[in-house]
Parts: sequence; structure tokens; C-alpha cells
Amino acid sequence: MISWPISEPVLVDKALMLRPWHLDDVSAVFEICQDPAIQEFTTVPVPYTKEIAELWIRSSAQKYVERDKISLAGVRNGELAMSISLHSIHEFDHVGEIGYWVSPQARGEGLAAHAVEMLTDFAFAIGFRRITAITLPENLASQKTLLNAGFELETVLRDGMTRRDGTQTNSVLFAKFPKSEVKL
Ligand SMILES: CC(C)(COP(=O)(O)OP(=O)(O)OC[C@H]1O[C@@H](n2cnc3c(N)ncnc32)[C@H](O)[C@@H]1OP(=O)(O)O)[C@@H](O)C(=O)NCCC(=O)NCCS
Repeated sequence: MISWPISEPVLVDKALMLRPWHLDDVSAVFEICQDPAIQEFTTVPVPYTKEIAELWIRSSAQKYVERDKISLAGVRNGELAMSISLHSIHEFDHVGEIGYWVSPQARGEGLAAHAVEMLTDFAFAIGFRRITAITLPENLASQKTLLNAGFELETVLRDGMTRRDGTQTNSVLFAKFPKSEVKL
């Protein structure tokens, strides 16, 4: 069973804080989501407008209440640096999928792997038993992020994804599991 906390979590480790979204984040999310890599490798709507950013932020608390999604802002040195979420949750099966982006300014320091470890640790602590992530085959930075965060490459899904240009392509499936308890 998943023990879903009543309030959205705030997770802090070293200089990184993962916290619920605020309406104050709208402008930063709008700016960051203009990034070509985020538009290429995630499913954010394109063109990405301020209205989309606001609607998305407004809906995140409700989605948490509905046990549909855990969506958090990653803040470092007082700046919005990233987004991370656990979505596609199937509570009966104790599974969910992780997704993330890092602002172009905050890239190159392994922030995503750090955040992925923080959120997967939290998810396993409340009862999840398998967390997956899916990337495009050419998204090497994301694949390295997942390996650095303790995920295993599971398989390649033939024609599992559609690119922005409409072409169909393979996708790469990664998974992570809770550390098994040491049996004496
Ligand atoms: C994927 C993403 C979140 C990683 O951000 P980050 O935490 O700053 O990652 P880093 O730049 O520190 O790179 C992580 C690792 O990937 C490697 N890497 C980065 N770019 C790479 C590339 N083009 N080719 C191969 N490896 C690459 C880095 O060397 C690093 O490996 P290391 O730890 O062995 O040194 C960021 O690039 C991003 O936001 N991309 C657009 C959105 C996206 O792709 N989201 C994921 C969808 S599945």
C-alpha cells in the first residue's frame, strides 16, 4: 500500500530543495521552457506560453490531492533550477514514472541525478516498488542522469515514441527499485 502524505512533500538535500510549485514560479517556468532541448526531449506544449505555465502550476496541487502526480520545483541558491515529477502513477501496482528538466543555466552539475535520487528515495519510502523513466534514444544526458541516479537500462521499446517532427522512434526504458532489505 502507498502511504500518500496529506501535504505535498518538501525534500531538502545539500543545496537543493524540491518543493511544491508557487504561482511566483510562472515567469521562470515560461522562460526556461523556451529552451530547445526541453521542447525536443519532453512533452511540454509548443509554443509554450505564460498561460500554459500558470495552468500547469495551478493544477499541480490538485493532481497531488487526487494521487495522480507528485510535481515539484527544484530550487538552488534561491533560483528555480529544475522541475521533477512522478507521474503515470498506478497505485494498485505501486509503480510510477519520473520526468524532469533542468534550466539551461543550471546544467552541467548533475543536478537532475541528485533530484531523481531524492524523489525516488521519497517514493520508495511511501511504498512505491518500481519507478520507470523513458527517454528518446538520442537523449544521452538524460540516460546518463538515470544511470547516475541508480536506474538500470531495462529495454528498448520499438517505435515507442513520437518525435516533435512527427517521426516515430524507439524509446529507452529505465527502471529503479527499492534497495532490498538485508536479511540476517
Ligand atoms: C537531461 C538533463 C535534465 C540533465 O541535466 P543535468 O543534471 O544538468 O545533467 P549534466 O549536464 O550534469 O549531465 C549529466 C551526465 O550526462 C552527461 N552528458 C551531458 N550531456 C551529454 C551528451 N550530449 N552526451 C553524452 N553525455 C552527456 C554528463 O557528462 C554527465 O555525466 P557524468 O556524470 O558522467 O559527467 C538536462 O540536460 C535537460 O534538462 N535536458 C532537457 C530536458 C530533458 O531531456 N529531460 C529528460 C527527458 S527524458
